[in-house]
Amino acid sequence: MLESLRSVVQLKPIEWDRIERQLATCGNVSDLRKIAKRKLPGGVFDYIDGGAEDEISLDRNSSAFGEMMLHPSVLRDVSAVDTSTELFGVDRQTPILLAPTGFTRIAHPQGELAVARAAAKYGMPYGLSTLGTRSIEELAAVASAPLWFQVYVWKDRGLVTEMITRAAAAGFEAIIVTVDTAVLGRRERDVRRGFTLPPKIGPGTFIDGARHPRWSIDLLRNEPITFANVAGGRAARRGSPNGDGRNQRNERERGDVSADPRGLSDIDGTTAVSLSDYVNAQFDQSLSWESLEWIRAASDLKVVLKGIQRVDDACRAADIGIDAIALSNHGGRQIDGTPAPVEMLAGVVDAIGDTKTAVIVDGGVRRGSDVVKAMALGADAVMLARPYLYGLAAGGERGVEWVLDHLVSGMKRTMALCGRSSISELTADLVSY
Ligand code: FNR
Repeated sequence: MLESLRSVVQLKPIEWDRIERQLATCGNVSDLRKIAKRKLPGGVFDYIDGGAEDEISLDRNSSAFGEMMLHPSVLRDVSAVDTSTELFGVDRQTPILLAPTGFTRIAHPQGELAVARAAAKYGMPYGLSTLGTRSIEELAAVASAPLWFQVYVWKDRGLVTEMITRAAAAGFEAIIVTVDTAVLGRRERDVRRGFTLPPKIGPGTFIDGARHPRWSIDLLRNEPITFANVAGGRAARRGSPNGDGRNQRNERERGDVSADPRGLSDIDGTTAVSLSDYVNAQFDQSLSWESLEWIRAASDLKVVLKGIQRVDDACRAADIGIDAIALSNHGGRQIDGTPAPVEMLAGVVDAIGDTKTAVIVDGGVRRGSDVVKAMALGADAVMLARPYLYGLAAGGERGVEWVLDHLVSGMKRTMALCGRSSISELTADLVSY
């Protein structure tokens, strides 16, 4: 009896690390999302998780992958599955990229630094947002993986040129010009909560914060969250490599206007604003295909146009020799009621033909099998955002690593089960929908 008992009872060593213990209970990204939801104040979670209007595009992005069926081949040698690929003439370990997200430190004090470190471990390029909360220079100092800089085009073109120049000087590989944000989409979860960046302390947010003391203490213990790249321009001109928020606060407290010649203190994220007021006031609504010329001329960096949602726009980008397009509906956060980008992929790849323009797709990627489906339909690379933000909120850098590992191992497993051992063997016959 003791023998039988011993054979069925297996005592696992106790895991003392709280984060590791929680991550060990996650089977997939949706489990991680639940932990993030528990750890973040409701307004912060909704800012990350939500989409525009009825969230039709948000839901569709993931459900489209679910509707795509795989048709595995059998009896093929899959003893060595290789996920490596090439993009912009550079060999990459995987075709996975981390998409830019604004205000990332709201999920975790380490913010973009944690994401960049985790991305570097997996050799994945990471796109820092113009609305990022760590500066170009801070990121370059910690990341050994390729960095891309995402550009929103401000009315103040000098500011944009300055940021692109800084990214080039810091060794970034590419700029991502986001072209789907002339004005901000109506994110109704944020509207209902009166959500601002940084979060404003009012009765609702106070209670929300009090119910999430760990998050609130982290927020108060660390330097103020700002749009570090908008603020960082000034700091760089003053000789500080870090764009230290404390300096800017001191300037404001001293009323030092000369140190802020463009009046950036209103736009660097230190003043609580609704994102829609901010975007609608600062971004250049007259941005056009012609405007791309000065952006391309601002540096030698590769240019990715992010937010393409039509075949004719994809063809136009390819015609003018844009290095890559990102088929994207901004994770369903801008215009609602658009198809999932992955549904447009095959048509776009077919239409732009054999041009040099690479095709990246994002929206709804939650598993390695989603990456396999997108690659089979002709993508050159796949981007994702919310999964790494859930990971960041749930477990900082370790949480992001968990997500990246989940994607890469899922990709390898799916490829093995499909009888395909390399990216070049991921062909359209693998997927039906
Ligand atoms: C974003 N996204 C985004 N895109 C961009 O070009 N600049 C930005 O600053 C942001 N900010 C941002 C914040 C948050 C919280 C989210 C969730 C998303 C869009 C992002 O880059 C990407 O296109 C989509 O999020 C991809 O969809 P999934 O992977 O989140 O489903």
